[in-house]
Amino acid sequence: MLERLANKRILLGVTGSIAAYKAAEIVRRLRETGTEVRVVMTRAATEFVTPMTFQALSGNPVHLELLDAQAEAAMGHIELARWADAILVAPASANFLARLREGRADDLLGALCLAKDVPLILAPAMNNRMWRDHATQDNLQTLKSRGVLVFGPDEGSQACGETGTGRLQEPSNIVAQLADIFKGGALDGLRVLLTAGPTQEAIDPVRYISNHSSGKMGYALATAAMEAGARVTLVSGPVSLAPPAGVQVIPVTTAVQMAKAVMAQLNATDIFIATAAVADYRPAEVADEKIKKSAENLTLNLTRNPDILRTAKQTMPGVYCVGFAAETTDVMNHARAKLTDKGVEMIAANLVGTAAGDSGFGSDNNTLILCTRESEVTLPLAPKNKIAREVITHVARLYPLWRQTRKDSAQILRFGKPPIS
Ligand SMILES: Cc1cc2nc3c(=O)[nH]c(=O)nc-3n(C[C@H](O)[C@H](O)[C@H](O)COP(=O)(O)O)c2cc1C
Repeated sequence: MLERLANKRILLGVTGSIAAYKAAEIVRRLRETGTEVRVVMTRAATEFVTPMTFQALSGNPVHLELLDAQAEAAMGHIELARWADAILVAPASANFLARLREGRADDLLGALCLAKDVPLILAPAMNNRMWRDHATQDNLQTLKSRGVLVFGPDEGSQACGETGTGRLQEPSNIVAQLADIFKGGALDGLRVLLTAGPTQEAIDPVRYISNHSSGKMGYALATAAMEAGARVTLVSGPVSLAPPAGVQVIPVTTAVQMAKAVMAQLNATDIFIATAAVADYRPAEVADEKIKKSAENLTLNLTRNPDILRTAKQTMPGVYCVGFAAETTDVMNHARAKLTDKGVEMIAANLVGTAAGDSGFGSDNNTLILCTRESEVTLPLAPKNKIAREVITHVARLYPLWRQTRKDSAQILRFGKPPIS
């Protein structure tokens, strides 16, 4: 397993924790697996361990300052961020979590974490009361929802003499978990964008139009795509689910917000899976004040919401698009019509409402028919996380074939003949 780290480039951030000395052991173990390591230390970290230690162990100069012309000329901060296959901050201090959450770039490590386009992993280490503090936990949840991975901390006796949660994970565990990040999956290196949950369309400051979508299917798909090696972004309507670890979550409320968030992500997307139950209509006008109960009848004037899936496909034909069709009757016909109408590659059709029994909205189970132009595959009733893994397996199998067909058609258009294979 550790051989997955061979030739990988790990940027190790060391911050001002009493556990900083254990980072030396992390560097040693990484080097043993053939990993290239560069170390960045915060100023506080240098009070605990000298840069010389890390320079000797990593075989590379240690990076300390952001505003240092000489260091910038040798390997600039952006270059350093580009160099890495992953950034590991171990130990990560409480102070560093707070800075990272705020997006501060006033030191080298903070700037690198903002400039990165690779997985960021934190291994926190601190006194157990600092760890339990509301601010630390709040920072951590926010960072996790942005896709930051967190290893540990462990429970046990601490340097301060107390016992509790806050010990840096053992270096061997940190290195083993880091190796897992590089495991080859069916969607290795691909970028998957998903939408999930319902949208809420305001009528007045206290009321809205929505639907019964729980978001469970979309969240399960996001987790399955992440486990298959994809870099996953999830645009989520209001749901009561915890953000899946390692997935970047963009929370939205309305269909218009969801459309905007999707469009902003599309050109960094290979596969788009639209599971959200987007409201088709929203009130044409949102009342400034709560609408009073006076008239016997009330008519709401509704206006169409953007069709996110159709617009996504039209804007970026090179993105493989999967739509979900939740229907109460005649599922297959509606799914087939949607496939053609929206011009997408796959429709996953499911029955919702009373006829669905123990599947569909809110349930932990689902049954789906995956409908493409060439095939129909039924996934029988199973827990949503199992169904999600099966959907991802199908998408991962069909995506490269679709890419190849697109390339071939482009070549026929350019040269008037099929390519030589
Ligand atoms: C002896 C000592 C040990 C410390 N250990 C920790 C620790 O384990 N975790 C932590 O979050 N802060 C610890 N601190 C506090 C940090 O060093 C301090 O918040 C510092 O500003 C962190 O800076 P940095 O995040 O830029 O590295 C310790 C401070 C002292 C004096």
